[in-house]
Amino acid sequence: MNAQIPLLNLFEYETRATEHLTQMALDYYAGGAWDEVTLRDNREAYDRIKLRPRMLMDVLNRSTCTTVLGQTLSMPILIAPMAFQCLAHPDGEVATARAASGLGTSMVVSTLATKSLEDVADTSNQWRQENQEVIEQQEELASNNFWFQLYVHRDRGLTQALVERAQSAGYQAICLTVDSPVMGHREKDKRNQFTLPTGMSLANLTTLKDLKIPERFGESGLFAYFSEQINPALTWADLDWLCSLSPLPVVVKGILRGDDALKAVEHGANAVIVSNHGGRQLDGAIASIEALSEVVAAVSEQAEVLVDGGIRRGTDVLKALALGAKAVLLGRPVLWGLAVGGEAGVRHVLQLLRDELDIAMALSGCACVDDIDSSLVLPPKFGW
Ligand code: FNR
Ligand code: LAC
Repeated sequence: MNAQIPLLNLFEYETRATEHLTQMALDYYAGGAWDEVTLRDNREAYDRIKLRPRMLMDVLNRSTCTTVLGQTLSMPILIAPMAFQCLAHPDGEVATARAASGLGTSMVVSTLATKSLEDVADTSNQWRQENQEVIEQQEELASNNFWFQLYVHRDRGLTQALVERAQSAGYQAICLTVDSPVMGHREKDKRNQFTLPTGMSLANLTTLKDLKIPERFGESGLFAYFSEQINPALTWADLDWLCSLSPLPVVVKGILRGDDALKAVEHGANAVIVSNHGGRQLDGAIASIEALSEVVAAVSEQAEVLVDGGIRRGTDVLKALALGAKAVLLGRPVLWGLAVGGEAGVRHVLQLLRDELDIAMALSGCACVDDIDSSLVLPPKFGW
């Protein structure tokens, strides 16, 4: 593809990104677990949902603004937590954070980031200082909306210290990922003997720092890290513990069933994210959009429900909101934007999706996100 031709959509970013990434990074970013059935299904499930647009609804003045956990966002699209962003661009998570700030949306920063959570928070504050005039005109740019994604390590002290650091750095929520007691079996990473290049480290984990370099074919440094460091013995009681550590709201990420969503809420969660980790954990797991309605029915009166996995078009966002999601999280396309153009690339990816949502809303008779209701989709007939 000619570098001068502007990219039109998120799929084109994916294609272009392949020119900017090493094979190891590309496989790690793009890949899923085992046969990648869930990875494919996340996407295909959206194509199976049909829209029932309303006509003549006066959609002259439209807004994609919304609130999530009480914070105003310019769009119902957040950036999902994703590890190792310096594999895509030297500025890594810092570039992603500046793009999120610039567009008035929220970024979830991974425990396994390659820039420290403090550096990411500082960059967002710096952006705010540099752009005070713009902020005064746009309410949704006013607050720092960043969340910190937590992997509970076997070392409780280290885990607690991460939460305390996130709170002092100004993060607005802790996002506990519950679908990863062990790392999914990702064959591409095993084939590539996945590790981080020299000079890149786990910036939040100063005592652990580096992924090991696998010694044998069939080993992944990330898989080994999880086996050694991440606590596979977590139960719902640990969610109580996490909620007691700080006054920050807790978001539980990786829920695929109504009963689990209820347990999350009973143990203190303020929101849940319906997710199968982008098809990277349990292959064969239900597509996340297919799990959404059950979770919404179970908890939406008590907690906000978000969804991620396979969102690539504005119509996907519309469908997720029609099925009861308060907002969606965008994963891999953000990495494609980062690889292609750093901060500007991420910003463009977010703008493209927001603009697609705006058009999809107009064509469905929705002037604001509150107009998006369940009657816009055919009652989904998912499952067996
Ligand atoms: C992830 N995801 C993830 N989730 C999490 O809770 N902590 C993490 O550190 C990571 N790291 C990570 C790295 C990479 C390269 C990818 C692609 C994904 C999962 C992520 O938050 C999200 O659930 C999915 O990526 C959403 O699916 P899509 O949008 O990528 O299809
Ligand atoms: C991943 C981890 C780090 O999906 O969550 O690669």
